Amino acid sequence: MKGIILAGGSGSRLSPLTKVTSKQLLPIYNKPMIIYPLETLLSAGIKDILIIVAPDHAGDFLKLLGSGSQFDCKFTYEIQDKPEGLAQAFLIGKNFIGNDNVTLILGDNLYEDNFSDSINSFESGGRVFVKEVTDPERFGVAEFDQNNKVISIEEKPQNPKSNFAVTGMYIYDHSVIEKTLNLTPSSRGELEITDLNNLYLHEGKLDVAQVEGKWLDTGTFESLHEAIIFARNRELSK
Ligand code: TTP
Repeated sequence: MKGIILAGGSGSRLSPLTKVTSKQLLPIYNKPMIIYPLETLLSAGIKDILIIVAPDHAGDFLKLLGSGSQFDCKFTYEIQDKPEGLAQAFLIGKNFIGNDNVTLILGDNLYEDNFSDSINSFESGGRVFVKEVTDPERFGVAEFDQNNKVISIEEKPQNPKSNFAVTGMYIYDHSVIEKTLNLTPSSRGELEITDLNNLYLHEGKLDVAQVEGKWLDTGTFESLHEAIIFARNRELSK
């Protein structure tokens, strides 16, 4: 299993903080944001990790993370020239992924759960993780049938069909590269991970698991603040 941390994007909702640095380098209590998703991958035993960053401040990621030796793993770096969607990670990471399975985690997502079992038991297809939220319209939203089976995923719907958001960690087999090559950009000009998830879903190959513990997407001032409080409480209770 390879790992990818996607840490590009523009972070416009956190401006002016993101005028001088990258969102994923902002502090969440005592650590830069990207360390949290990195720890999620490391705690699942992933040791070969591609870090995708935007051109601005790319050197600061290198300064922070280096070769990976201090984390007992290996880092590879790539630049995403423009924020053209989450699924573009699989085109940028094509050679890195090769014939392996891959776990993608967003550089601004913070999870309390340990995903060792979900990652190590993965064989093929796709696996996503949903969480009940109060503001589903910000996310990809799962629609369930009477048997609680997911039948579709809608990206940022105006009228969400449930309160279950698809969170920022995704596990795929290497067919993700081929599938992404067949995607067309959405109206907002992005290769959408929701389109990718629907491709797996319609092939009957998407497994949907639930996030048990806390999950935070730290891209807004409110969620950033909440993440800092969560990280502080967790640190102080150690
Ligand atoms: P978003 O929070 O959706 O986008 P953003 O970071 O550009 O922020 P804003 O909407 O405030 O401008 O992105 C989720 C994560 O994915 C975040 O860590 C940035 C990353 N990302 C990329 O690396 N490349 C992309 O093309 C996109 C869309 C996001």
